[in-house]
Parts: sequence; structure tokens; C-alpha cells
Amino acid sequence: MAVVTALDTKLQTTDPRAIARLLAPVGIAFEHWGVERLPAHLRGRNLSTEEKQQVLEAYKPELDRMKSQGGYVTADVISLWPDTPNIEALCCKFDKKHIHTEDEVRFVVQGRGVFRVFPDTGAALDIELHPGDYISVPARYKHLFFLCADKQITCIRLFVDAGGWVAHYADEGLEQARAAGLVAK
Ligand SMILES: [Fe+2]
Repeated sequence: MAVVTALDTKLQTTDPRAIARLLAPVGIAFEHWGVERLPAHLRGRNLSTEEKQQVLEAYKPELDRMKSQGGYVTADVISLWPDTPNIEALCCKFDKKHIHTEDEVRFVVQGRGVFRVFPDTGAALDIELHPGDYISVPARYKHLFFLCADKQITCIRLFVDAGGWVAHYADEGLEQARAAGLVAK
């Protein structure tokens, strides 16, 4: 189950409904779908392309609902494991403060990872996602992402346009992003 920590007070919340209520005012959607429906052979290890498709089928009702609500058109499954080639380089792409031009939508199937989000007012929050957790971080919302010590995660991703999925770095390129009209302020 997810753990949300306020970085200033270190107060933590693990109740899914409390997390959803906490994150809603800052524009972040959170739900807990669980992984109980997944058969044992699809849990706890890296997945083949065919098995990733089975995961997408297992969550089709929720994914269809999110596509309808959020305008997402494609879904895929991504895995990062300690033996993933260039895993350090891949992680470095997203562990600095950045934004995207569309929502970052993830459902965790296996492993763990942390979204650190930076509301315009108030302290930053760490949202540690565990299997069964769904999150949608809105477009242009400043955040970063890092894996936990076990360096493994498998996620469903939803996109409006997967071809345009890039990070615009807040510290290094926020001015350029503003100039390009990607962020309002
Ligand atoms: Fe991101």
C-alpha cells in the first residue's frame, strides 16, 4: 500500500482514502486497484511481452475508465529491474525535478517507486507507490521519480501520445519551458 510523506513535517499517511483526499487538492489522482486478480505467475518477477499483454487485459475495465476520463489513447507495460541494460542512465532521466506536457499516469504491478511532487504552495510530498497503486500526476506538474533500494518496478503507463513522452527539466530548463509555453509560470 502507498505511503505518502510530507517532507517538512515527516508526517506519513498509508490509508488509500486519506491519500486520495490529501492529493486531490494538489491535482493528483490516486486510487488503489490491488493486484489480487493477477495470477501468481505474473507477480514478483520480470514479465515477457506476452505476459505484459495479459496484465493489460487484467486491468482493462480500469484502463478503459481512465481513457474515457483522461483522454488517454494508448497503454503499455514498462519494467525496470537491476539487470535492465542502462538502468542507472534510465533512472537519471527522471530523478531530477521535471515536467511533462501530458499527465504521467502509472499503475504499479510489481516493485516500488517514489514520486516526489512539488505543489505551488506547501511542502513537497513523497508518494511511495507499491503494487496495486494508481497515480496520475497532471501535465506541467513539477515532480521527480526514483526507485527504492531494490531497484525494480513494473508499471502500466497510459498516454495521450507516447511518442512525445519526454522530461523537461525544471532546474535546468524551466525558463526554456516557459518560453515554449509549456508551463504557465
Ligand atoms: Fe516524470
